[in-house]
Parts: sequence; C-alpha cells; structure tokens
Amino acid sequence: MKLLVTGGAGFIGSNFIHYWLKNYANDEIFNLDKLTYAGNLENLKDIENDSRYHFIKGDICNLNLVKSTLEKEDIDVIVHFAAQTHVDKSVLLTERGKGNSDITKLFDESIDGDFILNNVWGTHILLEAAVKAWKKSDGTYDPQKRFHHISTDEVFGALSLEDKNKFNEKTVYNPRSPYSASKAAADHLVRAYYFSFGLPITISNCSNNYGPYMYPEKLLALAITNLIEGKKVPIYGDGKYVRDWLQVEDHCRAIEAILAKGRVGETYCLGGLTEDVNNLELIRMVLEIMGKSEEQLVYVKDRPGHDRRYAVDYAKATQELGWRPNIGLTEGLKAMVDWYINNPDWWKPIKSGKYLEYYKQQYSERGK
Ligand code: NAD
Ligand code: DAU
Repeated sequence: MKLLVTGGAGFIGSNFIHYWLKNYANDEIFNLDKLTYAGNLENLKDIENDSRYHFIKGDICNLNLVKSTLEKEDIDVIVHFAAQTHVDKSVLLTERGKGNSDITKLFDESIDGDFILNNVWGTHILLEAAVKAWKKSDGTYDPQKRFHHISTDEVFGALSLEDKNKFNEKTVYNPRSPYSASKAAADHLVRAYYFSFGLPITISNCSNNYGPYMYPEKLLALAITNLIEGKKVPIYGDGKYVRDWLQVEDHCRAIEAILAKGRVGETYCLGGLTEDVNNLELIRMVLEIMGKSEEQLVYVKDRPGHDRRYAVDYAKATQELGWRPNIGLTEGLKAMVDWYINNPDWWKPIKSGKYLEYYKQQYSERGK
C-alpha cells in the first residue's frame, strides 16, 4: 500500500509514520508537510534514509502539488493530520485587536498561524485533489482508496463536571474555540465530499494524545520539560479541567484498525483509559514520577472559553473494529517522562528562539 500522510512531521503524524513502517514492511509512505513551527524533521531522523519513506516539503493548500503527488505516486490512502493544533494560539490570534498585533510573528510566517486557512481550506483542497485524482470516469473509486481524516473530540464542545455523559458519534457538534471550530468545519467538509462525490472517507474524533515528540506548547510536554529544567508548571484557572488522555501509539493502532475494518462514510470516536482525571491530578502524577513537590505548580490566569471536561465513549470502535486502548495512564506517563529525560537534544533546541518569545508572551499575559 502507498500512503500519503499529511502533517507527518508533527507529533501524532511522526508517531504514526514510525508505527506504520515498523509494522508494514512492504508499504511506502509519502509525508507531505510544510514544516510550520510544529513540524520537525528531527522526529523522523532515524528513518530519513529508509527507502520506504519519502518526504515532500509542501502545503496541503497547493492543489497542483497534492493532485500530482496522488497521481504520480499512485497513492492508495490519505491519512490527514496536517493542521494548526494549539488552542491557546488560536485564541491569541483572534485577540490581535487587543494589543497583540505582532502575534503572527510568533509563527514562522504569518500565514502559518491561520487556523481557517490550514485547517478548513487545506482540508478542502485535499478533498478536491482526492476526487480529481481518484474518481474514475464511471463515477466510482478503486476499492483500496481511502481518505482518513484525523479530527478531535473538541468539536463536541464541553461537558460539565457533574455530567457523567461522554461524547460519542451521535453527539451534536458545539465547538467553542477558533481551533475546534476550524476542525468542525473540516469534518463537515469531509462528510460532504462523501455524500456529494462518493469519496471513500472515514473520520476519527480523538481525545488528547500524549507520548514522545509532543511539542512543548501542550500541557504534558510543557510540564515535563519545565520540571526537568527546574521551572514551574503553569496551571490554568482552578486546574479542575478534565481531559481524556490517550497514549499516541494506542491512537496509531486505532487509525490502523479504521483503515483495515472501518466502514466508508463512518466516524469513530477514540479515547483513552482514564476516567475523569483533571489537570491537577494529572500533573500531580507527573510530579510523583519525577520526585518533585507541589511547590513546582503555579496557578495562572485561565484560558478564555476553557472547555471544562472532555470524555469519550469509544464503544463503537471496540464493537466494530475490535480496538480499545491498551496503555494505562501511569505506565504511559512514566514512559513519556523517561523519553523526555533521555532526549534533551530533541526538545532543548525547540525550547529556544521563537518558542521563548511565545512562552514569554503567553505566560506573562497570564500573570507569571
Ligand atoms: P502538530 O501541531 O504537532 O503537527 C501538525 C503538523 O502539520 C506539523 O508538522 C505542521 O508542519 C503540519 N502542517 C500544518 N499546516 C500544514 C499545511 N498547510 N500543509 C502541510 N503541513 C501542515 O499536530 P498534532 O498534535 O500531531 O495533531 C495532528 C492532528 O491530530 C491534527 O489534525 C489535530 O487536530 C489532531 N488531533 C490532535 C490531538 C492532540 O492531542 N495533539 C488530539 C486529537 C486530534
Ligand atoms: O482534545 C483533543 C485536543 O487536545 C486536540 O484537538 C488539540 O490539538 C490538543 O492541543 C489538545 O487540546 P487541549 O487544549 O486539551 O490541550 P493543551 O495541552 O493545550 O491543554 C490541556 C489542558 O491543560 C487544558 O485544560 C488546558 C490546560 N493547560 C494547558 C497548558 C498549555 C494548563 O493548565 N496549563 C498550560 O500551560
């Protein structure tokens, strides 16, 4: 099989490429990534000379590039990760008018920071390219073709702490940040291309991932690297915000199961083994693993519109695909802490330069 992976130089995409090449000796992967601030070829250093792996530096918004890649390389499957992914940045960007006029400088190029352009328009262009390259003159597609769209549980909005319900495939969309709204729009477009053009799509809406190569703007990677550096961990608001943590390799296995057994046109919700762990409880687990004290926590101003609780019911994926997460939170966190302790050469260069500007601005505005 030949796969086009978009955003493969990012956190989950690079884990997916590693996972796939390890498990499918005869497959070939083409990684299309424009290398925004979050894209990092160091994530793939160990496989850069593997003859089954090919890197294409480019933008998913470039229709000619995407279409010609699909045709020239005879791609069977697209796994679409590429996106702007950090909620705080999506909020910062929309606060330009409030004195943050230089905020786009925090991205490599101003355009890299645009959530609508990359997440909505980019997905639209990929879909167009797939239809143009794959649809046969009789209106059908070869049976091995698949467009798999990676989405997030954030499209469903926020649950309350009192609510015992979880998100599932029937939950009504209610995105509440510019990031989640852009992902929701992309999901709708993907489904529209299935209904309007018969494009063989699947979608997964996944909860918070964690593991190696997680960019240190996101809570767990930020916390672990700050603690290694002897810095404090910023906790937004009261810290009682709940996320559903899924180890990234479990996520990769879920995508594998969807590609193998998922029904075309369907959506699968994916979540982890945690039951309502809030940010404070999560970071206390990290403190314990790292032998650090509660004094390392610092409470800072909350994220605007902060979603209180996410929880995902993945019963459909279990019933239809036989998938369930395997890696418990304590085990996954220990492995993640070890990875960051053993790989300072990966994260130290990231946490310098532009990142420092971002960190200073983000956290000085939060009061620390
Ligand atoms: P990331 O920010 O680490 O990486 C995104 C990658 O996409 C980067 O390599 C970047 O260079 C690339 N990219 C961005 N815009 C591009 C464009 N226009 N053309 C080509 N490449 C582009 O992201 P991640 O955390 O690995 O997330 C991957 C996907 O999974 C995203 O679609 C995200 O919405 C989704 N998701 C993430 C999580 C999570 O916890 N991180 C959870 C659920 C879903
Ligand atoms: O739910 C899936 C989503 O998970 C993905 O779609 C997003 O791409 C990904 O970034 C992630 O979004 P979150 O907003 O949940 O992740 P983040 O790591 O930014 O924050 C996790 C929680 O920790 C959230 O409640 C905010 C809080 N937080 C975050 C940071 C960066 C803090 O308390 N302090 C921090 O410094």
